[in-house]
Amino acid sequence: MKVAGVAGVMAMVLAACSEKPQPVARDFPDADSAGAILLVSRCGTCHVAPLPVAHVADGWLTVLNRMQMRMRSRGYPLLEKEEQRVLLEYLQVHAAPAVK
Ligand code: HEC
Repeated sequence: MKVAGVAGVMAMVLAACSEKPQPVARDFPDADSAGAILLVSRCGTCHVAPLPVAHVADGWLTVLNRMQMRMRSRGYPLLEKEEQRVLLEYLQVHAAPAVK
């Protein structure tokens, strides 16, 4: 009984999470690319996934490093080196133009 209760609460929590509005992949440039898929799946859980134009190319590494910290502190799986490389490249290619 007690175990079932805990499982029930877990199911509710999980259901609540999956009801969060998720951005649709077509809002993102080059939406079928590995980078876009990583962005939507890994960066749209705590908040809506940001568009790459949210930062200039040089700004994204700092943001990614900070997000890895946020993921670690909340017990989320971290991005692997290769995932980080693919995601960073995607964000930088589609980033806001640098301010001159
Ligand atoms: C574990 C939860 C979590 C995940 C996963 C997460 N973020 Fe965040 N993000 C936050 C929190 C908390 C803030 C607000 C505090 C801050 O800016 O550090 C934030 C803020 C942001 C901001 C706005 C602040 C800024 O500097 O522009 C951007 C952009 C961002 N996240 C990008 C990302 C990207 C890209 C990913 C995927 C690699 C990601 N986030 C994944 C928790 C998360």
